[in-house]
Amino acid sequence: MEGRGRFGSRIGVILASAGSAVGLGNIWRFPTEVGRNGGAAFILVYVGFVLFLALPVMVSEFVIGRASKSNTVDAYRTLSPGTPWVVAGFMGVLAGFLVLSFYSVVAGWTMHYAVSSLLCQLSAGHDFGAEFNAFIAHPLLPLAYLAAFLLLTHMVVARGVQEGIERYSKWMMPLLFIIIFVLVGCSLNMPGAGDGLRFLLRPDFSKVTWPVILSAIGQAFFSLSVGIGCMITYASYFGSSMRLVPSAMHVCLIDTLVAVTSGFIIFPAVFSVPGLSVDAGPGLVFITLPNVFNAAFAQIPIVGYVFSLLFYVLLLLAALTSSISMHEICTAFIHEKHGVSRCRAAWIVTLLCFIGGAACALSFGPLRELTIHGMGFFALFDYLTAKFFMPLGGILITLFVGWRMQRSQVMDELTNGGTCSRILARLLIFLIRWVAPLGVCIIFINGLRGE
Ligand code: PHE
Repeated sequence: MEGRGRFGSRIGVILASAGSAVGLGNIWRFPTEVGRNGGAAFILVYVGFVLFLALPVMVSEFVIGRASKSNTVDAYRTLSPGTPWVVAGFMGVLAGFLVLSFYSVVAGWTMHYAVSSLLCQLSAGHDFGAEFNAFIAHPLLPLAYLAAFLLLTHMVVARGVQEGIERYSKWMMPLLFIIIFVLVGCSLNMPGAGDGLRFLLRPDFSKVTWPVILSAIGQAFFSLSVGIGCMITYASYFGSSMRLVPSAMHVCLIDTLVAVTSGFIIFPAVFSVPGLSVDAGPGLVFITLPNVFNAAFAQIPIVGYVFSLLFYVLLLLAALTSSISMHEICTAFIHEKHGVSRCRAAWIVTLLCFIGGAACALSFGPLRELTIHGMGFFALFDYLTAKFFMPLGGILITLFVGWRMQRSQVMDELTNGGTCSRILARLLIFLIRWVAPLGVCIIFINGLRGE
């Protein structure tokens, strides 16, 4: 078996971890939730959850990963041998597989829209709702895009930690930031942009009900990739000089900024075309926005063309840097646990995810009738991970670091052997021991009761 990989630089660590966090969750799911749930009021609740619940989980994952230098399953075995904690590791691998399966389906749709934009097909004035529904119900096309997207992910992961994940994150993330910057410029220059901004920035607290609070925490965990051991796997490749708390803070900051900035792209754009609704749910990006691009194209063709192409390329890049991290959870586990070469392990994961993803993709078409508890595969995988595995994983991870690991070992990791701020470390230990597990537990139980 080859030696364990390792990230080569601090910037590489931040960009790879931020790459995992920034994804469809920021650009597709976040604006959808903001549009439905009270604009800035939702953003405020969300930011609170990021600070007090998701950040402590991320720091805990970093502690487990770096202290154990192992994949998610072996991490618990190394730090707490012979105890049932290892189940939390297995849950993480399973959740990684489930998320990657349905995530790649949406990423595949994005790829289709990027190709359509490139070929100028989004500008011909169609019924975008009907086209989207026909596309996702097609028995073959979504599968072809799913396979193409998984192969892209595979190519990066198979190359290893430094040569694959770090190297690609280092150019994909800056490119992503540049595209966001250009798109905000395009969007803010559209007619009616002011109304979009007012909608985004005016808080409507009457919409913040219990189910909305549940969505906000689910969104925070999903967006920051915490609760399933993704960050455990990445942190197992960190060097000993990486400062864990500031790194986690940087990742949370970048992720939240990108999510809010996506609002600055989407809402002014949607408000620029009369009659479109921001409350379009998941169709916001695939049905509502093509109408915007189409209208922009009718006015100044090059603007419409560039706007739509860049937008879907942005979405695709963001999805890719995230899918790499989910793939890596499973690949690292198979590679290290079963002594299979990294390349072969990556193939196993890619094939299994293709099967899982195909079930999800076809649940919009030929497998529509096949439901479990009233949900098709796509909805089921999404439900299981967002409502179950991620919150439960968050509780277990913080309990493990807060109560099971030696306090001195945790302190050592948080302060890099006593060389960084102890005050910040103590504050985080308090959040990890009390605030995060209790907060997530209350919300988790209410979430299950509400079903
Ligand atoms: N954080 C990613 C996003 O926002 C999704 C993700 C979830 C990635 C879980 C890895 C693990 O799109």
